[in-house]
Order: sequence, then structure tokens, then C-alpha cells
Amino acid sequence: MANGRTPSEHTVFDQVSAEYDQLPVEFFGPVGERLVALAGIRPGDRVLDIGCGRGAVTFPAARAAGTTGSVLGVDLSPRMVEATRAKAAELGLHRTRTMVMDGQKPTLPAGTFDAVVGGMSVHMVADLPTAYRAYRDLLRPEGRLALSAPATDLSPRPRVFGLETIADLSAAYATDSDVYPNGEAFGGQDRLQDDLRVCGFTDVTLTVERAFIRAGTARDVVRWTWTHGMRRLWERVPQHRHEHLESRIAAEITASHLDGGQVVLPVPVLYATAARPAA
Ligand SMILES: C[S@@+](CC[C@H](N)C(=O)[O-])C[C@H]1O[C@@H](n2cnc3c(N)ncnc32)[C@H](O)[C@@H]1O
Repeated sequence: MANGRTPSEHTVFDQVSAEYDQLPVEFFGPVGERLVALAGIRPGDRVLDIGCGRGAVTFPAARAAGTTGSVLGVDLSPRMVEATRAKAAELGLHRTRTMVMDGQKPTLPAGTFDAVVGGMSVHMVADLPTAYRAYRDLLRPEGRLALSAPATDLSPRPRVFGLETIADLSAAYATDSDVYPNGEAFGGQDRLQDDLRVCGFTDVTLTVERAFIRAGTARDVVRWTWTHGMRRLWERVPQHRHEHLESRIAAEITASHLDGGQVVLPVPVLYATAARPAA
């Protein structure tokens, strides 16, 4: 299956769930906040968050939907779902629920959501048109879809997470499209535009914005690369090469991305918004 993902392949996210977005490295949080702003979530909205992870989108969506709205976060990883459920309770977000569910075709009642959002997640599903059609059906007429994914960063040199060393690593060890972060998210912007229209969406808007990875040290960022989907890339690299390659990544960060003693790494992020047409 080209670019195929099945629940069992997502054990990587179960594996990293304790550390995912929990290190002193900022990235997924601000990207999640931005996605919620672009989705235009209002008090009272019923929101479905696909691939909720540790709640980078779920929690700002819950705050925007307020006490009269609700958020359902779904994820293939049971540990992500459990951790986010516990955090929602701790934060007092009583109208936030989480469930283990395949975001490719969520088994939920049609027409029951005002917004479907997916932060850095939906580009991983195997059959994107099936997912887009499912989201259109889950939305009420005029309901909104908002998705984010890493944007391709090729100029002046290919970069992944803002770094040439990670792009080189990806090129060397992840040439098949099935391994994150290799390959263009959603099959590229043209295909995303077309697919969303063909699958019944209107008002499709794509934007690429600069987000930032912020951390105290280069070594924090190196450690962070083991705590999300990039772990799949590391697992392809022979163990005896890890230390050398980690040092190269840290050296690139130290040489080019220190700002007042802090790491500030610009990373382009693709945001897509669309709407289900009025009935
Ligand atoms: C990079 S994380 C993003 C998590 C969160 N949305 C964020 O912005 O930090 C991707 C998440 O998507 C989940 N995921 C990937 N494919 C999925 C699918 N088909 N259905 C549900 N969740 C999926 C993974 O388990 C993981 O938790």
C-alpha cells in the first residue's frame, strides 16, 4: 500500500506518547493555536479533532468552543488518547472527550460537527479522499475543515524541520514515501486543492506560514526529534551512526539558529481551510 498507514504501524506514536510535545521545545503548541484561529471556532461549536495527539489542537479548540461547545479528539494511539483525556480533566475541560478511532473514516453521526480540525495528522492517513469525504459528511452545512502539515521546504536547499542535516538524513534513509517526514504532505498543494473540491468542499484556502521551533539548547532539539514521527526515520539509521548524526544536527543549529542564546528555527507550515457548502 503506497504511503499506507494502518493502526499497527502507528505504534511509533504510542511509543513516543509520554514525551510527545512534553519536552522544553515549543512547536506543536503554537501551530495548534494557529490552526484553531484559522478554523474560526466560536463559543458553542462542536469540534472534531483528528489525530489529537497530546492535545495541541484539542485544548485551544476546547477553550474557543467554551462551556457551551464540545470537542472530541480521536487518535489511533491509545496512550495518546489516555494522556489527553487525563490532561483535559486536569485542565477542567469537562466538555472534551477523547476516543481511539481511525481518523481516516471516523464512525460518528453525519452532520453533527461545526468544525473538523486536524493538526499535523491527516496527511498521514492512507486514503486521503476517503478521509476528506468522511469529514464533509460529518460537518453540518457551512461547517469548516482546517488542517495543518509540514510544508515542503526546498529553497535554497532542502530542509526538514528547518534543518539541512535532517533533510540529508531523510534523503539517505527514508526514500520511500511511507516514512515520515519524507514526501510532500497531502500529495502537494495542487492535489490538496483539487481533492478537497472534488470531495465536496468549497472556499478552499491554502497558506504557508512560518512557525518556529524554540528551545533552550541544540541538544534539546536533537532529543525532541526522537519524540514524534521522526523517530521512524531514526529507527532506520544504523545505531552506530546515531551519535555522529545527532552531533551534526546540533552543530547546524548552533552555527545558524541561535538567537540571544536560544534556539529559534523557522519551519514552514501548510494550513488548509475549507467549508461544507450550505444545504
Ligand atoms: C504529529 S502528531 C499530531 C498530534 C497533534 N494534533 C498535534 O498537533 O500535536 C500525529 C498524530 O496523529 C495520529 N494519527 C496518525 N494517523 C492517524 C489516523 N489514521 N487516525 C487517527 N490518528 C492518527 C498519531 O497517532 C499522532 O498522535
